[in-house]
Amino acid sequence: ADAEAGARVVADVFARTLREAAVAGEEGRGAVLGLATGSSPVPAYQELIRRHREEGLSFAGSRAFLLDEYVGLPAGHPQSYHRFIREQFTSHVDIDDAAVLSPDGAAADPRAEAAAYDMRIREAGGVDLQILGIGANGHIAFNEPSSSLASRTRVIGLTRRTVEDNARYFDSPQDVPVRALSQGLGTILEARRIVLTASGENKAEAVAQMLEGPISARWPATALQLHGDVTVVVDEAAASRL
Ligand code: GLP
Repeated sequence: ADAEAGARVVADVFARTLREAAVAGEEGRGAVLGLATGSSPVPAYQELIRRHREEGLSFAGSRAFLLDEYVGLPAGHPQSYHRFIREQFTSHVDIDDAAVLSPDGAAADPRAEAAAYDMRIREAGGVDLQILGIGANGHIAFNEPSSSLASRTRVIGLTRRTVEDNARYFDSPQDVPVRALSQGLGTILEARRIVLTASGENKAEAVAQMLEGPISARWPATALQLHGDVTVVVDEAAASRL
């Protein structure tokens, strides 16, 4: 019905994943969380922060991998995703800051950085739980339409629509980066569990395509139909075309 109700469902999925990692944790492996930026996951992050403070939900020993980063923005840039996730979530819970990884947007060789980042996720044993938002054009992370369903972490040119959608965070539209480093659809599908959250009428078409359309690179989120453990949390407006 509303953002708070959705956030509780998403937080429940996180809590279950953290609990399972703790039970399996004899070998010292905490949960590996896949985190997303954008406005959609923010209510869920707020609910997780609340549970950490009021109910003792702990992220100790967990590691996190961000989905994506703008090419050209160093980690400390106010609009970098590196900074966003710290401000909105990780610096408010007990996860080690050094264990929160993201692609380096300022890397001298972005292509090499993309390949190395993909490898780092594998070396960590893969992602236990990936949270996702969805773009109005059906992108997940920055996998724009026409992305291969098997794609790995790589440099992606952003569509005009995505640049326009994200311009609200920047002082001027010319400041919005036009390239990003993004986990690929194939990379994301390797996460053991996925929770996707969307709200608002402008996501309704993408949500309908994702769940009821044919699997196609035209709507990248349809790749999630290939995964066996996806929870989709939407409000009435985002669900209106189902
Ligand atoms: C960006 C991010 C995506 C996010 C999308 C939607 O393009 N790379 O991960 O899902 O925006 O953002 P919002 O949740 O703000 O609508």
